[in-house]
Amino acid sequence: MTQDEMKQAVARTACDYVAEHLPVGAILGVGTGSTANYFIDQIAGIKERLGGTVASSEATARRLAGHGIRVFDLNDVEAVGMYVDGADEIDGSMAMVKGGGGALTREKIVAAVARTFVCICDDSKRVGTLGRFPLPVEVIAMARAHVSRELARLGGRPKLREGLVTDNGNQIIDVHGLSITDPVGFETRINQIVGVVSNGLFAQRGADVLLLATLDGVQTFLR
Ligand code: 5RP
Repeated sequence: MTQDEMKQAVARTACDYVAEHLPVGAILGVGTGSTANYFIDQIAGIKERLGGTVASSEATARRLAGHGIRVFDLNDVEAVGMYVDGADEIDGSMAMVKGGGGALTREKIVAAVARTFVCICDDSKRVGTLGRFPLPVEVIAMARAHVSRELARLGGRPKLREGLVTDNGNQIIDVHGLSITDPVGFETRINQIVGVVSNGLFAQRGADVLLLATLDGVQTFLR
């Protein structure tokens, strides 16, 4: 099975999970990326059960709308019952690195509001220690150099993601060479740098459920 086929398999399982666990009429938060895209295509088949969706990016909102799935502004909903999204890395404590697609800030906002966070990925994303995947940090453009210096002081090799402007009008610095042994503490430390909008560590609010595609099928892990 290819990685792409594994992403499709976990997207199908996630759709079944939503149908089984999200109350009819509740709002579903939807993530960003290639795995999330397969998931969006799947939930088109259960859209009548959903009260609507909240999107974590403009790209996701467009794909949802293209399937005729209702997309709400987060400010206009009372609650988000479940959030389903991929990850770039996930460790044994369900902490994640996210933001490879550049949508980390909105993803983090929707994840914070959601009652349950369901992470969907293939087993290449499972790691012992986070940091092999460069950690994305969204920054206000004028603070880019300052934030980069501070990130270097924390032991990383910051590199601007050239040509990318986020949905929020900001830039992304990818931090290479990290080995993140204290994800909760490191997430807090980066957030304290002036000029940082958010960082791609999802440790304080990790996943509650992991649906992991493997060659032996999709496995379910609970926090
Ligand atoms: C986007 C993300 C994605 O969830 C992450 O990059 C995984 O993407 P993919 O499903 O394409 O492997 O955080 O900002």
